[in-house]
Amino acid sequence: MGSILVIDDERSMREFLAICLKRAGYRVTTAEEGEQALQVLEAQGPFDLVITDLKMPGPLDGLAILDQVKARAPDTQVIVITAYATTETAISAMKRGAYDYLTKPFKVDEISVVVERALERQALVHANAELREQVQGRFRLASLSGKSPAMQRIFELIRKIAPTRTNVLITGESGTGKELVARALHFEGPRAQKPFIAVNCGAIPETLLESELFGHVKGAFTGAGAAKEGLFAAADGGTLFLDEIGELSTPLQVKLLRVLQERKIKPVGGIEERPIDVRIITATNRDLEAEVARGAFRQDLYYRLKVIQVHLPPLRQRREDMPILVETFVKRFAGEMAKRIVAVTPDAMSALCAYDYPGNVRELENIIERAVTLEASSRITCEALPQLEKTKAAGAQDGQAVEIPAEGIDLDRILSDYEREIVLKALKQSGGTRKEAARLLRITFRSLRYRLEKLGIDSGLDERELALPPHSVEE
Ligand SMILES: Nc1ncnc2c1ncn2[C@@H]1O[C@H](COP(=O)(O)OP(=O)(O)OP(=O)(O)O)[C@@H](O)[C@H]1O
Ligand SMILES: [Mg+2]
Repeated sequence: MGSILVIDDERSMREFLAICLKRAGYRVTTAEEGEQALQVLEAQGPFDLVITDLKMPGPLDGLAILDQVKARAPDTQVIVITAYATTETAISAMKRGAYDYLTKPFKVDEISVVVERALERQALVHANAELREQVQGRFRLASLSGKSPAMQRIFELIRKIAPTRTNVLITGESGTGKELVARALHFEGPRAQKPFIAVNCGAIPETLLESELFGHVKGAFTGAGAAKEGLFAAADGGTLFLDEIGELSTPLQVKLLRVLQERKIKPVGGIEERPIDVRIITATNRDLEAEVARGAFRQDLYYRLKVIQVHLPPLRQRREDMPILVETFVKRFAGEMAKRIVAVTPDAMSALCAYDYPGNVRELENIIERAVTLEASSRITCEALPQLEKTKAAGAQDGQAVEIPAEGIDLDRILSDYEREIVLKALKQSGGTRKEAARLLRITFRSLRYRLEKLGIDSGLDERELALPPHSVEE
């Protein structure tokens, strides 16, 4: 049954409508005038139908409300009611997109017929819009779930900039969905049929990165037995996604800047430049602006890269997204594991929505994957979410529990002991893979290496893990 917002300054009319419509089974909310109605719309999101009086005190009359409602949610149907039935107002309301109008006084059956038809129309329009969306782009934007205003704005921005070749810088903590946004930008745009190539600038040793990106000519350096095409060339016509751009060394920053300015590349050891048409999308979980301020990242390059910036807020700052993400992941993993999990218990859902997710969406995803694996019943229960319980207990060890004796404490030693303990734990959990340990700790590989040295931890591993495939190619 539909949701209806009734706006009328006359109390008896409001109550009359509310009673009739509730009795007919609709969900009804009322407002006394325009501004209050807008607040309700803000707070509760779109209604299926809005019934508004035309003449009301205050700055917003019925026509203004009509415009506001249609601007926010074009699918919402609007019926205007008026005691001053002049054809002009009725016509202007219809022209502005009202579904119908009613002249006071009216009978109960009269209103119920109009309401029913308006809601039928709403359902039809809505189903059409959904279908359109399904056909046009399941993979692309649709792979991103989110209901929060912040995410809605990001979806809007993606729609707007996907068709362009503007450079985009995506920022946000680890696991917030930066790569997913980069893919959406590519697959929503005109380059969708061309390659999307992702390169993790932090995972490739600096000495190799240049030839990975730009290619090299035969004999350019020891071991360069044959000429090799770089990733820029491979991405020609498509998109190159440079992840962890903050890791780029200064010489490579200069080279990248040149590519952006000239739209040409030169392979290592080569003399000839070749033109290239690549859209550059970059991402970082570092504060690049601070890096610029301390001279570690070139300012000119920074401005070139962030012509448009998409910032993904941490998940804990957009809790409205949690339920839908939980649902999405439950459905996905249950499907993949062929399990019949149909729901999440209310307790489990509230535990999931109360947690802070330092690892953001990725952490939520992992928690759900684990829960779906463990759950034997058809519903996800709290028992399948032990991580959430543990962190609650760990939260008790915050600074308040620390006693500082009169003679003082050695803060640096305490912190480095704690750091060592956590780093070792991460290494253990990652089975000794430093790259994975760095990911668990949400620090860069280099930062982990630095800490290992500082703390005198010998992780006993060689550099081989660096030879893991540094990029993925998709066409
Ligand atoms: N809005 C979202 N809807 C659905 N899945 C999401 C969303 N955001 C992130 N994810 C999922 O969370 C995981 C992490 O996302 P992604 O790899 O894009 O994060 P990231 O910001 O690039 O992280 P990092 O900085 O660690 O590289 C992925 O599995 C991705 O599919
Ligand atoms: Mg990423």
